Amino acid sequence: MGTAFEAGGLTRYTRVAIALHWTIAVLIIVNLTIGLLHESLLPGTIPLHKSIGMLVLLLSVIRLVWRFTHRPPPLPATVRRWEKGLAHAVHWLFYALMILIPLSGWVFTSASPKRHPLEFFGLFPLPMFPVAQDKQLSHIVAERHEQLAYLMIALLVLHLGAALKHRFLDRDRTVDRMLPGAGPV
Ligand code: HEM
Repeated sequence: MGTAFEAGGLTRYTRVAIALHWTIAVLIIVNLTIGLLHESLLPGTIPLHKSIGMLVLLLSVIRLVWRFTHRPPPLPATVRRWEKGLAHAVHWLFYALMILIPLSGWVFTSASPKRHPLEFFGLFPLPMFPVAQDKQLSHIVAERHEQLAYLMIALLVLHLGAALKHRFLDRDRTVDRMLPGAGPV
């Protein structure tokens, strides 16, 4: 399935891909902030953190299915081969983390011996991940949750740096492909 659609000489991502990209981006940044500050500046926000994380997991699965069925628009011809390769690697690592970080949160919360009921924004209960309650397992997976979150922050810096470089140094239209505007559904 292609995404051939041109408006003003630019082929964009589909509108669904753009909506998912920005929704997930905001949710992840909010969740990284809550995760890092819940012990100091944002007490009592872990139930919200868990709900947002479960939503990110759901949206990321949808996004991955969309990605596999819709080819991204081409990059400008001026983008160099190593840049394409690096962008590709970063994007797939992002997809992996968008699944693995919330999944690890779900697993270690479920494995905790003193686990709290899981709810979706206080609206309805969510199931525990099918895993035995085991203090050691919960502890190990919680550590992975934290380490993967730090890796995500490093990738975000790289991703944002690349976007700024394309926009302000190269002055090409790489970033415009992911900005809202006329594009295919
Ligand atoms: C977008 C998804 C998520 C991101 C980016 C994220 C990120 C983080 C970060 C950065 C921390 C702080 C780690 C530390 O410094 O100790 C954290 C803690 C935590 N996360 Fe997540 N998380 C996500 C999803 C989830 C989900 C789905 C759950 C559970 C259902 C969850 C449960 C927790 C809990 C309970 C803590 C507190 C650990 C503690 O301090 O004892 N997270 N998360």
